[in-house]
Amino acid sequence: MTKNIVVLGSLNADNIMKMPRMPLVGETMALTDVTTAPGGKGANQAVAAARQGANVSFIGAVGNDSNGQFMRATLLTNGVNVDAVATNGDVPTGSAYIMLQESGANTILIHGGANQALTIADIDESVIANADTLIAQFEVPLDVIMAAFKIAKAHHVQTILNPAPAVYQLTPELMQVTDIIVPNETEAQLLSGITVKNDDAVLNRVSNAILAKGVSRCIITLGDAGSFVADGNKRWWAKPNKVKAIDTTGAGDTFIGTLARVIESDFSNLDEAVKQASIASAIAVTRAGAIPSIPTRDEVAAF
Ligand code: RIB
Ligand code: NA
Repeated sequence: MTKNIVVLGSLNADNIMKMPRMPLVGETMALTDVTTAPGGKGANQAVAAARQGANVSFIGAVGNDSNGQFMRATLLTNGVNVDAVATNGDVPTGSAYIMLQESGANTILIHGGANQALTIADIDESVIANADTLIAQFEVPLDVIMAAFKIAKAHHVQTILNPAPAVYQLTPELMQVTDIIVPNETEAQLLSGITVKNDDAVLNRVSNAILAKGVSRCIITLGDAGSFVADGNKRWWAKPNKVKAIDTTGAGDTFIGTLARVIESDFSNLDEAVKQASIASAIAVTRAGAIPSIPTRDEVAAF
C-alpha cells in the first residue's frame, strides 16, 4: 500500500551563492555563481518522500508573490498535494540565502516570511487524520507543530520531528507526541547540551539526554560519518556511503523524507529505513541544489 505522508513545514526560494570560501567580516568578495532553486526544509522533505513513492500532502503557506507561485508549482510538479497550502498576502514567501563553499559545505540564512506567519488555523485536521505519517521541522512556529502533532497522535498517525534549525527547546510536551526525532550534529549538541563527537560513548550520552525528554527513537545524522541510531535501549550505527560531496544542501531533508516513506507503522524496520535514507542523502550531496538533487526510488535502489 502506498504510504500517505503529510509534511507541515517551510517553503523557501533558495538563493544559492557559490563562493571559494566564507568571507571575512568587512571583506568584499566575488561570488563564482548565483542561482535560485526551490527549497525550504518542509518542501525538500515533501519532495523526497514523493520521489520515493509516497502520497504526499503539504501544510504550509506562501506569500502572494512569484516565489510563492514558484514553490507551489514545484510541489505540484513533484506530485505533492497543495490543497492545504495557504496564500498569505501580508508577507513574502520564505527565502534562504545559501553560502555554498567550493568544498560543498554550506552556511544558510533564512527569512521566515509566510512560514513564520503560519497559524494553528492553517492546519487542516482531516489531512493529518488521513495520513500514516506526519513530518515537521523547526522552520514554522512551535505552537503550530505542537497542535499538529497532538492531532496526529489523537488519530494514531506516526510523527517524525526534524528539530532543524535548533531554535526551540525539546519540551516534554512536544517529545511525548513525537515518535522519532532526527537531529544533525549541531542540533543534537544544542538539544542535549553535550559536545558531539563521533565516538560511541559520547553519542550514547547525547542520545540518552534526548531520549530522557520523552521520545523513544532518535537518529543523529553525522554527515559523512553516517548516523547514530537510538531505539529504546538499542544503539547502532548506520554506515556512511562514500561519495564526492558537491552540495550538501537538502541532504538531511532527503534523509527524512526517505525515512518517512520506508518506515513501517510499528517501526519494526527502522534499521532498513535508516539505510535507505542514508543512500538517498548520499546521492543528494553529489548534486547541486536542494530539491533538484533529491533522487527517485529507482536511483536509491540502483545505488
Ligand atoms: O535544509 C536545507 C534547507 O534549509 C534549504 O533548502 C533552505 O531553504 C533552508 O530552509
Ligand atoms: Na544537494
